[in-house]
Amino acid sequence: MLKAITRDVSASLSDCELSFVDRRPIDVATARLQHAAYRQALTALGCTVIELPALDAMPDAVFVEDVAVVVDEIAVMTRPGVESRRSEGAAVAAVLAGCRQLRHIQAHGTLDGGDVLRVGRRVFVGQGARTNPEGIAQLAGHLRPLGYAVQAVPTRHCLHLKSAVTQVGEDTLLIQPRWIDREAFAGYRLIEVDPDEEHAANALLIGEGGVIHPACFPRTGERLQRGGIHVVPVDLSELQKAEGATTCCSIVLRASGE
Ligand code: GLY
Repeated sequence: MLKAITRDVSASLSDCELSFVDRRPIDVATARLQHAAYRQALTALGCTVIELPALDAMPDAVFVEDVAVVVDEIAVMTRPGVESRRSEGAAVAAVLAGCRQLRHIQAHGTLDGGDVLRVGRRVFVGQGARTNPEGIAQLAGHLRPLGYAVQAVPTRHCLHLKSAVTQVGEDTLLIQPRWIDREAFAGYRLIEVDPDEEHAANALLIGEGGVIHPACFPRTGERLQRGGIHVVPVDLSELQKAEGATTCCSIVLRASGE
């Protein structure tokens, strides 16, 4: 059984951190409706969805992915790369403590969960805007003894590694080649985003059921479908203005003991 931890959209979402996109007005009511549709898509793909209440003093708290890296054995609570996000993790840690042993990234390491792409026993970690070498070394220190191979991958022109590459099938990755070097992912089948859909590489794979992908990138969605991948399009336009997308709005984990 898969669980998906989510958090409702903060009233203050418009005050979110932005690094690589310009600030535009955000309709929070619409963002909440889109987030509800996203949760429904998670449910339709087989997840039991946990809905944490909004943290209105923390604009980016809806992007729960960034505060924890969860594998079957443990959960590593991160230390996000921007100060404004470092208090978001406490309530998520309280949930995860019920199903995983917790580890913590310590100062002066920084790590955002959006920079961590796990494909089986391989863990790729983006080194860029938010995650530093010390954070990657600490994560590796927690995961390598459990049998995970951890590899740093430099990112460019994007917020997180998973802005540039995500898993969309057992051995298939969706990639934006302008933002990441494909050589790091040799051996995988790579599907490139449509050249006119710059931000389309962030998709959320749920088990073997399919991927949640932003509805505003239909050409890339068609590429995925042609590649044999079931696509569930969800309109996330307001959350995308906050530099979020499909993976950042949930932490998907196997229920412990399975
Ligand atoms: N607004 C998402 C982030 O910058 O962390």
